[in-house]
Amino acid sequence: METITVKTSTNKYDVTIGAKLRFETSKFITKPYSSIFIITDSNVESLYLQDVLTSLQKDHEVNYTIVPAGESSKSVRVYFDVITQGLQYGLDRHGLIIALGGGMVGDLAGFVSSTFMRGIDYIQMPTTILAHDSSVGGKVAINHPEGKNLIGNFHPPQAVIYDVETLHTLTQTEIRSGYAEIAKHSLINPEPFWDNISSVNLKDALSEEVLMEHLLKGIAVKAAIVEQDERESNIRQYLNFGHTLGHALEAELGYGKITHGEAVGIGMLFAMRVSAYYYDNHNKLPYQELLTWLRANHYPFDLPRLQITKLVDRMKKDKKARNHNVQMVLLKDLGKPAIELIDDHNLAILLEKFLRELVGY
Ligand SMILES: NC(=O)c1ccc[n+]([C@@H]2O[C@H](COP(=O)([O-])OP(=O)(O)OC[C@H]3O[C@@H](n4cnc5c(N)ncnc54)[C@H](O)[C@@H]3O)[C@@H](O)[C@H]2O)c1
Ligand SMILES: [Zn+2]
Repeated sequence: METITVKTSTNKYDVTIGAKLRFETSKFITKPYSSIFIITDSNVESLYLQDVLTSLQKDHEVNYTIVPAGESSKSVRVYFDVITQGLQYGLDRHGLIIALGGGMVGDLAGFVSSTFMRGIDYIQMPTTILAHDSSVGGKVAINHPEGKNLIGNFHPPQAVIYDVETLHTLTQTEIRSGYAEIAKHSLINPEPFWDNISSVNLKDALSEEVLMEHLLKGIAVKAAIVEQDERESNIRQYLNFGHTLGHALEAELGYGKITHGEAVGIGMLFAMRVSAYYYDNHNKLPYQELLTWLRANHYPFDLPRLQITKLVDRMKKDKKARNHNVQMVLLKDLGKPAIELIDDHNLAILLEKFLRELVGY
């Protein structure tokens, strides 16, 4: 078992990571709560809910709600239904919410916690690799039909309890999605650990030891950035590496066609391309290594033909764009991210060439 403490100017919490932690959930609840309300999804419920319930029921009043698995549950309707359920169970201002699941459940339950009776405590129990990213940092949100995460808040958890044993039931697709975010952390960290990741074959059964090592490294990168800039006024934006094109691809293809991480994988390649153009540093960046690793691990590149102008338009509308100018995180060198405003015209030319080469159309 390993612990990373995240300490910002306003709060402090432990991220504990180890095998079988779900059987010891009770140990991590250090305050007296009036009751506990677990929010999980329809896939995670059948796998892990009972273990968590059993570990809590001796000492606490525990209720739960199960939302449909999938991104569509990050909606106003499901948010409202979950609040209604909580109220019906008598959850009050002194209660605790537990988010048991991947990033979808974490974001939804976190947003419920941040608004329920003006905000109550919650604990993240991530069950996906991707959630090493989403469960740390306190950003919580639901989606609006106009775009992802448009209704949200900053609401850090009281604790993160990460049971790596739960990761054995993930599909290859979800493993790929999560590992792209680990790769991102490995590339932007001042002490890059990309070499550790590039040697991993995701099809091999990943040992808990290896998983823990990579997750800890990824969480440490995220924690260090959040500690310096919790509200994203400057360096937290570095975490957006690969996401400008990634988000545009997800939206343009239709959510769910490729996973978030798969889109970010392509986005990171493109960000390196743009970096090479702006900084003339192609030789310093592991573009070819990343491409080889993504291909070897079957990240999907067989995209349908996409209109460049539509993708550029999406990038301009990104929450992180400034005055409708595309803002991208580039790499000056491995482990040295920087934020640049990118001229539309150049962006379109670079993107067209990049996609033509990558997808082969
Ligand atoms: N708040 C943040 O800082 C932040 C950062 C990154 C991503 N996110 C959000 O995270 C979400 C994506 O997270 P995700 O990829 O974990 O998606 P997810 O929660 O939808 O999980 C993916 C799939 O895996 C299933 N699953 C979860 N745990 C499992 C397990 N242990 N075994 C088998 N199946 C399991 C889920 O039911 C779902 O079908 C997005 O909504 C994204 O916006 C938030
Ligand atoms: Zn991401």
